[in-house]
Amino acid sequence: MHLSDSNAAPGDNLVLIGQMWSGKSSAARELARLTSRRWVDTDKLAAQAAGRTIPEIFAEHGEEHFRELETAALRSLRDERRLIIATGGGIVTRPDNPALLRALGCVILLSAAPDVLFARVSRNQQRPLLQTANPRATLDEILARRQADYIACAHVIVDTTTGAHAVVAERILAGAKQFFAKQEALRR
Ligand code: S3P
Repeated sequence: MHLSDSNAAPGDNLVLIGQMWSGKSSAARELARLTSRRWVDTDKLAAQAAGRTIPEIFAEHGEEHFRELETAALRSLRDERRLIIATGGGIVTRPDNPALLRALGCVILLSAAPDVLFARVSRNQQRPLLQTANPRATLDEILARRQADYIACAHVIVDTTTGAHAVVAERILAGAKQFFAKQEALRR
């Protein structure tokens, strides 16, 4: 686990970012169970707003439209408290989003070894960006392109390459507690 020094976060939500299949939804579900908080997913909020599935949004209106829905979903959470928020893998790529994410609370980057990620991704056909001739190369290219944005946005980094959902959730909670304790200490 890595803890970043910078930038106070006014909100008390836990915000999970990271690549497709880094374990955000599973961790969010487990964190909600452990903390009795509610969890939401910006992918689900975007799909609900459109009345379509994510593959349908990409197919009918393109990625840019999905990114607009995703940012609108993020903005709609601005006044929320005590939520666990899972996000889509590309959420850090829009210039406005990192500040919106960090204002919501503690931003936790879930990261996993690319081989493990690909093994999880390849069992699932629902990710429009990976419907290419060489999904492994596409995934590597997306990872490389986004890595700096993920790291700049995160307050805490947690590795999800190994460990059951409950173990990963405990790692996240430990990182978030350290983050909020530090915030509190700085306020005094
Ligand atoms: C995307 C990741 C997906 C979803 C959409 C685009 C991406 O979410 O938002 O297919 O750009 O990486 P998950 O990270 O939950 O798979």
